[in-house]
Amino acid sequence: MADLRPLRFVTLVGSLRKGSYNAAIARALPDLAPEGVTVEHLGLIGAFPHYDADLQANGFPAEVVAMGEAIAAADGVIFVTPEYNYSVPGALKNALDWISRLPSTPFAGKPVAIQTASPGMIGGARCQYHLRQVLVFLDAHVLNKPEVMVGNVTGKVDVESGTITDEATRGFLAKQLEALAAFARRS
Ligand SMILES: Cc1cc2nc3c(=O)[nH]c(=O)nc-3n(C[C@H](O)[C@H](O)[C@H](O)COP(=O)(O)O)c2cc1C
Repeated sequence: MADLRPLRFVTLVGSLRKGSYNAAIARALPDLAPEGVTVEHLGLIGAFPHYDADLQANGFPAEVVAMGEAIAAADGVIFVTPEYNYSVPGALKNALDWISRLPSTPFAGKPVAIQTASPGMIGGARCQYHLRQVLVFLDAHVLNKPEVMVGNVTGKVDVESGTITDEATRGFLAKQLEALAAFARRS
């Protein structure tokens, strides 16, 4: 019989700005998730201090510990992020650097999916492969396909109303959530 245990995914958004297209996509995911899957926002990474081993020696910041625990408790993590200068935004890389030092290694074996969105044509594709490289060291289990790279996002997402106006994009997102659910249930 098919394993249809309920799953709880969390989103990790790489943009800090209020009018973020990526954050708007992350907010739309709960409505696109298949039956039995909930999607919640993990919280903000903007409050994390810059990674500093001396700070770590005095104890992990409370927001890092809280995010690590939330990741450990989730059935999967969905990154929704812009590409900055052909790579991972600094704030997101900083958050991953902190989380990677937690003794509990919350990403180890964790099912992960990546979504990027950009006003540019290729939707942040280059960021995806840098992020995948970082996630290898964190021992995350990253879903290979389908990839989600939302190009020309300004014409596809209405941030104010929180609506993904492009039907094809809604379809791609829903398909990836379905694939992540199947991947997580096999893990
Ligand atoms: C510092 C910086 C670097 C950027 N580099 C890229 C890039 O390499 N590729 C790209 O497609 N867009 C790039 N952009 C444009 C972003 O994709 C665009 O600002 C996008 O709306 C940011 O995502 P958000 O709306 O979720 O904040 C860059 C923007 C900034 C601020």
